[in-house]
Amino acid sequence: MPDNQKLQISEDGSHTPISEIFQVTYHSIHGAITESNVVFIDAGLNFLLKNNYSSISIFEMGFGTGLNALLTYIWAEKNQVNVDYHTIEAYPVSKDTSDQLNYGEILGYQEILYQLHKCDWEIEINFSPYFSFCKYHQELENFDLKSKYDVVFFDAFSPASQPQLWETPILGKMYDILNYNGVLVSYCAQGAFKRNLKTVGFRVEAIPGPPGKREMTRAIKDLSKVKSAGITEEFTFDVVLESIIAGVDTIISGD
Ligand SMILES: C[S@@+](CC[C@H](N)C(=O)[O-])C[C@H]1O[C@@H](n2cnc3c(N)ncnc32)[C@H](O)[C@@H]1O
Repeated sequence: MPDNQKLQISEDGSHTPISEIFQVTYHSIHGAITESNVVFIDAGLNFLLKNNYSSISIFEMGFGTGLNALLTYIWAEKNQVNVDYHTIEAYPVSKDTSDQLNYGEILGYQEILYQLHKCDWEIEINFSPYFSFCKYHQELENFDLKSKYDVVFFDAFSPASQPQLWETPILGKMYDILNYNGVLVSYCAQGAFKRNLKTVGFRVEAIPGPPGKREMTRAIKDLSKVKSAGITEEFTFDVVLESIIAGVDTIISGD
C-alpha cells in the first residue's frame, strides 16, 4: 500500500511529507535535512568513523523519502568510506511525492535521489565504488533479517504512532543484527524506549539532539558487557543464548 502525502517545508527549507496513514510528518518540522544530519550522519556515521571504521554496513528502518540514504551516499563519497546500505519500507511514498522532493535541489544530487526511488526492490545495486544499496518492500515485523550491520538507523514514526515498533521484540531484533560495538541511533529520547533498549542488552547514551529536541539516543552493542560477564570473545551473546536454550551449561570460560 503506498502512502500518499502532502509536502511541508520544514524550518531549514527542506521538504518533509505528511503521512496520510499515520497523520504525522516524516521528519522534524525544525529541519528535515538538519535532523537527518545530526541523528544519523553525525551520531551514527561520524561516530563510527572516529572509531576507525573503514567500511560500514547500515540497516535503515524506514526508507521513506530516501533522505537518509541520499545523505549517506554523499557522506560515503566525501569520506571515501565503503558503505553497504540496506533499508526497509512497508508503505513507499508515491512517485508523485518523490519527484517533488527538494533534497536534490538543496544538496545537489537529484539524479541519485531519483535512482534510489526508481531502482528495483530486493536487488543490491552499486551506485558507486563507495556506495552499494538494497531496499526491501516489507514490514519490519515480518522481515527475516539475515545480515549483520555496524549501524541501525532506527527511523520509525514516533512511539505514539507506532508503539509496537519501539517495544522489546523489535528492539531485540535490532540488537541481534548488529555487529559487536555497532550502534543504533534514533531521534527518540523517550524513557520507555531507552529502558527497552537496555532490557534487550544495549548500553544507552542520551546525546544532544537536533533543533527542537534536547536529546536523542545512541545505543551501543557493547562487547565489554559480555566480557565482564566472564564470557570469552569467541562466544557471542547469541551463541550463549542459543546454548542456554539448548541446555548447554558449560560455555562460560575459566572453569
Ligand atoms: C519517520 S519515516 C522515515 C523517514 C526516512 N528515513 C527518510 O529519510 O525520509 C518512517 C518510515 O517508516 C515506514 N514504515 C512504517 N511502518 C513500517 C513497518 N512496519 N515496516 C517498514 N516500514 C515502515 C513509513 O512508511 C515511513 O516511510
